[in-house]
Formats: sequence, structure tokens, C-alpha cells
Amino acid sequence: MSYKIRKTEANDIAWVDSLTQTHWGSDFVLSQRQKVYPRELPGLVALDEDETRIGLLTYRVVNGTMEIVTLNASRQHQGIGTQLVVGAVAEAQTLNLGVVWVVTTNDNLDALRFWQRRGFRLVSLRPGAIGEARRLKPTIPIHGCYNIPIHDEIKLELTI
Ligand SMILES: CC(C)(COP(=O)(O)OP(=O)(O)OC[C@H]1O[C@@H](n2cnc3c(N)ncnc32)[C@H](O)[C@@H]1OP(=O)(O)O)[C@@H](O)C(=O)NCCC(=O)NCCS
Repeated sequence: MSYKIRKTEANDIAWVDSLTQTHWGSDFVLSQRQKVYPRELPGLVALDEDETRIGLLTYRVVNGTMEIVTLNASRQHQGIGTQLVVGAVAEAQTLNLGVVWVVTTNDNLDALRFWQRRGFRLVSLRPGAIGEARRLKPTIPIHGCYNIPIHDEIKLELTI
């Protein structure tokens, strides 16, 4: 199935904020031990044929690389996440960025599979990072996907 992918616009901000709250437990996420607000970031939105928003990717440029900060597909296994990542990689190429990276957590086995299937490689592990992160963001749940206790951060990277 094919979806329209476009850059986020000013009129998406309330939706980005609401999606962040719903899926990430607050209006911010943590990156490199800092609060990052997806509503303030550039991003890509996936739209279905009715122009309904069905996916979001936000990113930021860090030291000449692209960090994918959030990625969500409202309907899974229909190619939405893949198309958003393809769009982000194209944007990184336009910006002359040679590396795209993302951080996920030890419980998120679906995401680990997803990123590796799209060419991303595991590059680092921060054991216990989520314990520290909970001090800044107490809403991070104790158990995550598949009821796995969330403890660690895993960084994956794609060289383009
Ligand atoms: C991770 C996530 C973004 C993936 O998005 P998605 O839209 O489900 O991903 P896709 O549909 O593009 O790809 C998933 C699988 O579905 C398959 N798929 C794609 N279109 C399909 C279709 N029409 N029919 C059946 N399967 C399909 C893909 O081939 C892929 O399998 P593969 O990895 O073996 O190639 C999504 O699961 C999500 O929102 N998760 C919650 C938030 C999250 O964890 N984000 C990542 C944080 S690091």
C-alpha cells in the first residue's frame, strides 16, 4: 500500500504533541539525557488517501548526523514505518548527513527487528540508562513490550 509522506507543517503541531503524549507518556522524550520536544522538531507525516495522519517520524541534526527521535505508525505492518524511514534517509542525503541513528530500549524487540531489517546496525548499549532516565521522566513504565522490564538503551546506526 502506498501512502503520501510530507514534511510536518505548523498545523500538525497539536497532533504531534497529542501523539507524543499518547505514545511516549509525556510531551517530551529523552535523548542523550535531555528533554526533547517532538513538536519542536522537523518531521515527516504519513497520510492515507483521506489525508488522515497515520504515521509520524521526527528527527534532529546532531553533530553532522541525523537522529531519528520518534517513529510511530498508527497501523502496523502496512509499510508506513518503512516509508517514513525511507523519507528520513532521503532527507539526510539532501542535508549531506552520512549517518542516521536511533535509540531504542531493550524491551522493544519489534523495533530492533524493524531497524535491523532496514540496514541499521547495533552500535552501542547503555546498560541501566532507563533507570537514570526515570529520574527525568517518571512516566517511563517499569515493564515494556512483551512485559519485559525496561532497563537499557540500544543505539542503532545506518551509514548512508
Ligand atoms: C516500529 C514501527 C514504527 C514499525 O512501523 P510499521 O509501519 O509497522 O512498519 P512496516 O509496516 O513498514 O514494516 C514492518 C513489517 O511489515 C511488513 N509489511 C509492510 N507492508 C506490509 C503489508 N502490506 N502487508 C504485510 N506486511 C507488510 C514489512 O515488510 C515489515 O516486515 P520486515 O521487517 O520483515 O520487512 C511500529 O511498529 C510502531 O509504531 N511501533 C511503536 C513505536 C515504536 O516502537 N517506535 C520505534 C521506536 S525506536
